[in-house]
Amino acid sequence: MEINEIRADEGMRPRLYIQQSDRLEAIREVHKGFNQDIARSIETGDVTTVKSTLCDLVAETLAEPRAGMLQALPGTMDILVSGYSKQPSILRTFATISNKDYSTVIHSVNVMALTLSYAFFTGLSLRETKRLGLAALLHDVGKTEIPSEILSAPRKLTAEEFEIIKSHPAIGNRLIREINRLGDDIALGALEHHEKLDGSGYPQGIKKISFCGQLIGIVDCYEALTNEERPYRRARDPMDTLKLLKEDVEAGKFSRRLFEKFCYSLI
Ligand SMILES: [Fe+2]
Ligand SMILES: [Fe+2]
Repeated sequence: MEINEIRADEGMRPRLYIQQSDRLEAIREVHKGFNQDIARSIETGDVTTVKSTLCDLVAETLAEPRAGMLQALPGTMDILVSGYSKQPSILRTFATISNKDYSTVIHSVNVMALTLSYAFFTGLSLRETKRLGLAALLHDVGKTEIPSEILSAPRKLTAEEFEIIKSHPAIGNRLIREINRLGDDIALGALEHHEKLDGSGYPQGIKKISFCGQLIGIVDCYEALTNEERPYRRARDPMDTLKLLKEDVEAGKFSRRLFEKFCYSLI
């Protein structure tokens, strides 16, 4: 059946069904289309479209991050890193393009952009930059298994609810490492991004944290504080946020060197 514009406008599209067994294949095709759109928009300098397409792709992926689903993302990261390696300053703009509905997806995409920006600023290799970008994009993938009533509760969480939230690093670790086999280095970003160097973090309370876990930990706090509005908390401006994070550096929670380099990467 030919679907012309008039038919489409009138909602007369035929319904297409895909067999369950072909679902992964179908999703891979959809991802390919997303990746092509992202590559095209990078080329034309349309950063807003790159961001919204990436958010759609990540939302689609995180809707059900079962076996194979996350494997489309390394290809996307290749496109982003090679596309922006010649113009890394755009990544800072990227992270500040505002979106109406702040969600885990937008947060993850922003954390990725700031992490890539840091990696370019400090001159890491393209390979390392891609791995860090992927780890940042997936650091909260474990939240897909946390009930959304808890994630978006418009109030401060109860101690019990916070315990449930605290399970997302281990869940993310399992999703990345065991279910999607994306590599231990990427899983560490999910597992360790809430750890603190003085041992006060979670889930393990360790003091020896991987570079990836430490970097994403800082970027994660910065991004959430500057963007996340809650009924009981307003989003802060970047300078105030950095001052607040500096207190955590003084308290021995974050690495001073890493924090300083992160500050410079924002300029
Ligand atoms: Fe997190
Ligand atoms: Fe996060």
